[in-house]
Amino acid sequence: MEVRKMNQYVTGAVIKELREKANMTQLQLADRLGVSDKTVSKWETAKGYPDITLLEPIAEALRVSVTELISGKAIDNLNVSSNMLRSKFYVCPVCGNVIHSMGESVIHCHGILLSPLEAEPTDERHMIFIERIDDEYYVRIDHEMTKEHYISFAAAVSSGDMQLVKLYPEQSAEARFRIRGVKKIYFCCNRDGLFVADVIKGIDDKESGYDNLKERRELEETAKKLFG
Ligand SMILES: [Fe+2]
Repeated sequence: MEVRKMNQYVTGAVIKELREKANMTQLQLADRLGVSDKTVSKWETAKGYPDITLLEPIAEALRVSVTELISGKAIDNLNVSSNMLRSKFYVCPVCGNVIHSMGESVIHCHGILLSPLEAEPTDERHMIFIERIDDEYYVRIDHEMTKEHYISFAAAVSSGDMQLVKLYPEQSAEARFRIRGVKKIYFCCNRDGLFVADVIKGIDDKESGYDNLKERRELEETAKKLFG
């Protein structure tokens, strides 16, 4: 049986090589593209792919054609994490397909071998506001929702299940999740990658506007019971 050759997509190694050739720092390239230097670093260390809408700007910044950009080396999955208990999210940079896995998997979409996204703590450009409404968490992410730059999904993860809400440009970056057991809330920016927030920390956050002490204590008690 013949082994089918995988499609190629731009690899971190190629971006790094071309960036260094162009005498640019990660920050300089990041500034040109309107992403953070951390994002560029993630691409270069195979922890995420640049969204397809960024291919042309990247090629332009590195003074190559898109074809040259993606005809680099074969894709290796360098991000081999060993924690099998941790949820992994994979996002296809071409179609935006979201794949959740309970452990490490070999996942292809559009012929591209996907690396699991590495979740970062939320930052000032990706803030999450979590509010408790009845038996649900109402989650809002303070972020633009344009076709170029938007939050593509939000997910609430407990030890036993995962609730995922797909989000779309031109809609608002908000979701509702059943509270029971939810430990972490993830959300994904198409440009800046995956972010994670601890639910209790989010609720305690003064900026969330959540200041009902009694309710908060109850919630903390519940959390203690659930998570120890
Ligand atoms: Fe973003």
